[in-house]
Amino acid sequence: MDTPRQLALDLAANLRARALYQGRTRVGDAPPAPVSRRVEPTVAGARFPIPLTGSEGGQSSAKGLYSSLSWEALEEKAQACRDCGLCETRTQVVFGEGARDADLMFVGEAPGRDEDEQGRPFVGRSGKLLTQMIEAMGLSREQVFIANVLKCRPPANRDPAADEVKQCRPYLLRQIEVITPKIICTLGRHALRTLTDYEGPIGKVRGRPMEFAGTTVIPTFHPAYLLRNPSAKRDAWEDLKTVLRMLGRPVPRVSTKRP
Ligand code: URA
Repeated sequence: MDTPRQLALDLAANLRARALYQGRTRVGDAPPAPVSRRVEPTVAGARFPIPLTGSEGGQSSAKGLYSSLSWEALEEKAQACRDCGLCETRTQVVFGEGARDADLMFVGEAPGRDEDEQGRPFVGRSGKLLTQMIEAMGLSREQVFIANVLKCRPPANRDPAADEVKQCRPYLLRQIEVITPKIICTLGRHALRTLTDYEGPIGKVRGRPMEFAGTTVIPTFHPAYLLRNPSAKRDAWEDLKTVLRMLGRPVPRVSTKRP
Protein backbone atom coordinates (compact mmCIF):
# COMPACT_ATOMS: atom_id res chain seq x y z
CA MET A 1 0.00 0.00 0.00
CA ASP A 2 1.45 3.39 -1.00
CA THR A 3 2.09 5.86 1.79
CA PRO A 4 0.60 9.40 1.54
CA ARG A 5 4.17 10.65 0.94
CA GLN A 6 4.66 8.19 -1.94
CA LEU A 7 1.27 9.19 -3.41
CA ALA A 8 2.24 12.86 -3.19
CA LEU A 9 5.59 12.14 -4.86
CA ASP A 10 3.85 10.17 -7.64
CA LEU A 11 1.37 12.98 -8.19
CA ALA A 12 4.14 15.58 -8.34
CA ALA A 13 6.04 13.42 -10.85
CA ASN A 14 2.91 13.10 -12.99
CA LEU A 15 2.31 16.83 -12.91
CA ARG A 16 5.91 17.51 -13.85
CA ALA A 17 5.72 15.06 -16.75
CA ARG A 18 2.48 16.62 -17.95
CA ALA A 19 3.90 20.16 -17.76
CA LEU A 20 7.02 19.01 -19.58
CA TYR A 21 5.00 17.34 -22.29
CA GLN A 22 2.94 20.48 -22.79
CA GLY A 23 6.17 22.40 -23.27
CA ARG A 24 5.71 24.34 -20.03
CA THR A 25 8.41 24.64 -17.46
CA ARG A 26 6.37 24.92 -14.30
CA VAL A 27 3.41 22.91 -13.15
CA GLY A 28 1.47 26.05 -12.36
CA ASP A 29 1.76 27.48 -15.86
CA ALA A 30 -1.44 27.92 -17.81
CA PRO A 31 -2.80 24.73 -19.37
CA PRO A 32 -3.76 24.64 -23.03
CA ALA A 33 -7.04 26.24 -24.02
CA PRO A 34 -9.92 23.79 -23.91
CA VAL A 35 -10.49 22.04 -27.19
CA SER A 36 -14.02 21.66 -28.45
CA ARG A 37 -14.95 18.00 -28.83
CA ARG A 38 -16.77 17.89 -32.12
CA VAL A 39 -18.36 14.54 -32.71
CA GLU A 40 -19.24 14.02 -36.31
CA PRO A 41 -21.21 11.01 -37.44
CA THR A 42 -19.09 10.84 -40.57
CA VAL A 43 -15.72 12.09 -41.66
CA ALA A 44 -14.28 12.35 -45.12
CA GLY A 45 -13.00 9.00 -46.24
CA ALA A 46 -14.11 7.10 -43.16
CA ARG A 47 -17.20 5.90 -41.39
CA PHE A 48 -17.45 5.55 -37.65
CA PRO A 49 -16.31 3.13 -36.55
CA ILE A 50 -14.04 2.57 -39.51
CA PRO A 51 -15.43 -0.18 -41.72
CA LEU A 52 -13.34 -3.28 -41.65
CA THR A 53 -12.47 -5.13 -44.79
CA GLY A 54 -10.10 -7.79 -45.92
CA SER A 55 -9.64 -11.36 -44.91
CA GLU A 56 -6.37 -13.07 -44.03
CA GLY A 57 -3.89 -10.33 -43.35
CA GLY A 58 -6.67 -7.79 -43.87
CA GLN A 59 -8.12 -5.25 -41.49
CA SER A 60 -10.73 -7.44 -39.88
CA SER A 61 -8.50 -9.98 -38.25
CA ALA A 62 -5.42 -9.97 -36.09
CA LYS A 63 -4.75 -13.50 -37.38
CA GLY A 64 -1.88 -13.48 -39.79
CA LEU A 65 0.98 -15.49 -41.14
CA TYR A 66 2.63 -15.89 -37.74
CA SER A 67 -0.45 -16.64 -35.68
CA SER A 68 0.87 -19.98 -34.53
CA LEU A 69 4.18 -18.60 -33.26
CA SER A 70 5.00 -18.10 -29.60
CA TRP A 71 6.27 -14.66 -28.60
CA GLU A 72 9.82 -15.97 -28.39
CA ALA A 73 9.62 -17.64 -31.81
CA LEU A 74 8.13 -14.47 -33.27
CA GLU A 75 10.94 -12.33 -31.92
CA GLU A 76 13.54 -14.80 -33.10
CA LYS A 77 12.01 -14.78 -36.56
CA ALA A 78 11.92 -10.98 -36.65
CA GLN A 79 15.55 -10.74 -35.55
CA ALA A 80 16.59 -12.98 -38.44
CA CYS A 81 14.10 -11.57 -40.96
CA ARG A 82 15.31 -11.00 -44.54
CA ASP A 83 11.88 -10.63 -46.15
CA CYS A 84 12.46 -7.15 -47.55
CA GLY A 85 15.33 -4.95 -48.62
CA LEU A 86 15.54 -3.17 -45.26
CA CYS A 87 17.54 -6.09 -43.91
CA GLU A 88 20.44 -4.89 -46.06
CA THR A 89 20.62 -1.46 -44.45
CA ARG A 90 19.43 -1.98 -40.88
CA THR A 91 21.81 -2.13 -37.96
CA GLN A 92 19.35 -3.80 -35.60
CA VAL A 93 15.81 -5.11 -35.75
CA VAL A 94 13.56 -3.13 -33.41
CA PHE A 95 10.98 -5.64 -32.26
CA GLY A 96 9.25 -3.45 -29.67
CA GLU A 97 9.24 -3.36 -25.90
CA GLY A 98 7.03 -3.11 -22.86
CA ALA A 99 4.53 -5.27 -21.01
CA ARG A 100 3.39 -8.33 -22.91
CA ASP A 101 0.03 -8.10 -21.17
CA ALA A 102 -0.32 -4.32 -21.57
CA ASP A 103 -3.79 -2.77 -21.71
CA LEU A 104 -2.41 -0.05 -23.92
CA MET A 105 -0.27 -0.46 -26.99
CA PHE A 106 1.32 2.36 -28.98
CA VAL A 107 2.10 1.72 -32.62
CA GLY A 108 4.45 4.04 -34.46
CA GLU A 109 5.83 4.02 -37.97
CA ALA A 110 9.37 2.65 -38.12
CA PRO A 111 12.66 2.89 -36.26
CA GLY A 112 14.78 5.96 -36.86
CA ARG A 113 18.54 6.29 -36.55
CA ASP A 114 18.67 6.11 -32.73
CA GLU A 115 16.30 3.17 -32.60
CA ASP A 116 18.27 1.36 -35.32
CA GLU A 117 21.44 1.87 -33.30
CA GLN A 118 19.97 0.83 -29.96
CA GLY A 119 17.49 -1.83 -31.08
CA ARG A 120 14.75 -0.16 -29.01
CA PRO A 121 11.62 1.70 -30.16
CA PHE A 122 11.14 5.42 -29.65
CA VAL A 123 14.41 6.31 -27.95
CA GLY A 124 15.36 9.34 -30.08
CA ARG A 125 13.82 12.82 -30.01
CA SER A 126 10.33 11.55 -30.88
CA GLY A 127 10.79 8.85 -28.31
CA LYS A 128 11.58 11.31 -25.56
CA LEU A 129 8.35 13.09 -26.33
CA LEU A 130 6.42 9.83 -26.42
CA THR A 131 7.89 8.91 -23.04
CA GLN A 132 6.75 12.27 -21.66
CA MET A 133 3.29 11.68 -23.10
CA ILE A 134 3.10 8.26 -21.47
CA GLU A 135 4.31 9.63 -18.14
CA ALA A 136 1.87 12.52 -18.36
CA MET A 137 -0.84 9.87 -18.54
CA GLY A 138 0.34 8.54 -15.19
CA LEU A 139 1.89 5.49 -16.85
CA SER A 140 5.41 4.29 -17.55
CA ARG A 141 6.94 2.82 -20.68
CA GLU A 142 7.14 -0.50 -18.84
CA GLN A 143 3.37 -0.57 -18.33
CA VAL A 144 2.49 -0.18 -22.01
CA PHE A 145 3.78 -1.87 -25.16
CA ILE A 146 5.53 0.19 -27.81
CA ALA A 147 5.78 -1.21 -31.33
CA ASN A 148 6.17 0.00 -34.89
CA VAL A 149 4.65 -0.97 -38.21
CA LEU A 150 8.13 -1.67 -39.57
CA LYS A 151 10.72 -3.41 -37.42
CA CYS A 152 13.65 -2.11 -39.49
CA ARG A 153 14.71 1.42 -40.31
CA PRO A 154 13.98 2.68 -43.82
CA PRO A 155 17.11 4.40 -45.19
CA ALA A 156 17.18 8.13 -44.44
CA ASN A 157 13.89 7.68 -42.53
CA ARG A 158 11.86 7.63 -45.72
CA ASP A 159 8.22 6.56 -45.57
CA PRO A 160 7.59 2.82 -45.35
CA ALA A 161 7.04 1.28 -48.78
CA ALA A 162 3.89 -0.76 -49.41
CA ASP A 163 5.79 -4.03 -49.86
CA GLU A 164 7.74 -3.45 -46.62
CA VAL A 165 4.48 -2.93 -44.72
CA LYS A 166 3.06 -6.06 -46.33
CA GLN A 167 6.03 -8.17 -45.25
CA CYS A 168 6.27 -6.72 -41.76
CA ARG A 169 2.59 -6.48 -40.86
CA PRO A 170 2.26 -10.12 -39.73
CA TYR A 171 4.74 -9.41 -36.91
CA LEU A 172 2.61 -6.55 -35.66
CA LEU A 173 -0.58 -8.60 -35.99
CA ARG A 174 0.88 -11.40 -33.90
CA GLN A 175 2.11 -8.90 -31.31
CA ILE A 176 -1.42 -7.52 -31.06
CA GLU A 177 -2.87 -11.02 -30.90
CA VAL A 178 -0.60 -12.05 -28.03
CA ILE A 179 -0.78 -8.80 -26.08
CA THR A 180 -4.55 -8.36 -26.64
CA PRO A 181 -4.46 -4.72 -25.54
CA LYS A 182 -7.69 -2.97 -24.63
CA ILE A 183 -6.64 0.05 -26.66
CA ILE A 184 -4.23 0.54 -29.52
CA CYS A 185 -3.09 4.13 -29.86
CA THR A 186 -1.79 4.65 -33.37
CA LEU A 187 0.84 7.35 -33.82
CA GLY A 188 0.60 8.98 -37.23
CA ARG A 189 -0.87 7.95 -40.53
CA HIS A 190 1.19 4.85 -41.32
CA ALA A 191 0.16 3.00 -38.18
CA LEU A 192 -3.49 3.93 -38.65
CA ARG A 193 -3.43 2.91 -42.29
CA THR A 194 -1.82 -0.42 -41.45
CA LEU A 195 -4.63 -1.34 -39.06
CA THR A 196 -7.65 0.31 -40.67
CA ASP A 197 -8.74 1.34 -44.14
CA TYR A 198 -8.44 5.01 -43.32
CA GLU A 199 -6.12 6.90 -45.63
CA GLY A 200 -7.14 10.49 -44.94
CA PRO A 201 -5.54 13.06 -42.67
CA ILE A 202 -5.12 12.13 -39.01
CA GLY A 203 -6.54 15.50 -38.03
CA LYS A 204 -9.97 14.35 -39.23
CA VAL A 205 -10.18 11.26 -37.06
CA ARG A 206 -7.75 11.77 -34.18
CA GLY A 207 -9.14 10.91 -30.79
CA ARG A 208 -12.11 9.07 -32.29
CA PRO A 209 -12.48 5.40 -31.55
CA MET A 210 -12.02 3.11 -34.50
CA GLU A 211 -11.75 -0.63 -34.52
CA PHE A 212 -9.24 -3.23 -35.52
CA ALA A 213 -10.21 -6.87 -35.14
CA GLY A 214 -12.42 -6.12 -32.15
CA THR A 215 -9.84 -3.89 -30.48
CA THR A 216 -10.44 -0.18 -30.04
CA VAL A 217 -8.00 2.00 -31.93
CA ILE A 218 -7.51 5.62 -30.92
CA PRO A 219 -5.54 7.52 -33.54
CA THR A 220 -3.38 10.45 -32.64
CA PHE A 221 -0.54 12.44 -34.12
CA HIS A 222 2.96 11.03 -34.41
CA PRO A 223 5.37 12.57 -31.85
CA ALA A 224 7.63 13.70 -34.73
CA TYR A 225 4.70 15.73 -36.05
CA LEU A 226 4.17 17.18 -32.58
CA LEU A 227 7.81 18.23 -32.44
CA ARG A 228 7.33 20.10 -35.72
CA ASN A 229 3.90 21.43 -34.71
CA PRO A 230 3.90 21.98 -30.93
CA SER A 231 0.46 23.60 -31.03
CA ALA A 232 -0.99 20.18 -31.94
CA LYS A 233 0.10 18.83 -28.54
CA ARG A 234 -3.15 20.12 -27.09
CA ASP A 235 -5.15 17.89 -29.39
CA ALA A 236 -2.84 14.96 -28.77
CA TRP A 237 -3.31 15.40 -25.02
CA GLU A 238 -7.09 15.33 -25.54
CA ASP A 239 -6.64 12.05 -27.42
CA LEU A 240 -4.57 10.60 -24.61
CA LYS A 241 -7.24 11.65 -22.13
CA THR A 242 -9.77 9.77 -24.24
CA VAL A 243 -7.51 6.72 -24.02
CA LEU A 244 -7.33 7.05 -20.23
CA ARG A 245 -11.09 7.40 -19.91
CA MET A 246 -11.66 4.36 -22.09
CA LEU A 247 -9.21 2.41 -19.95
CA GLY A 248 -11.05 3.56 -16.82
CA ARG A 249 -7.90 5.24 -15.53
CA PRO A 250 -7.71 8.59 -13.74
CA VAL A 251 -7.08 11.60 -15.95
CA PRO A 252 -4.30 13.73 -14.40
CA ARG A 253 -5.21 17.36 -13.88
CA VAL A 254 -3.06 20.41 -13.38
CA SER A 255 -3.86 23.72 -11.77
CA THR A 256 -5.47 26.15 -14.21
CA LYS A 257 -4.08 29.16 -12.38
CA ARG A 258 -0.74 30.79 -13.03
CA PRO A 259 1.20 31.31 -9.79
N1 URA B 1 9.46 7.00 -34.97
C1 URA B 1 8.72 5.89 -35.00
O1 URA B 1 7.68 5.83 -35.63
N2 URA B 1 9.14 4.85 -34.29
C2 URA B 1 10.24 4.86 -33.57
O2 URA B 1 10.55 3.86 -32.94
C3 URA B 1 10.98 6.05 -33.56
C4 URA B 1 10.59 7.11 -34.26
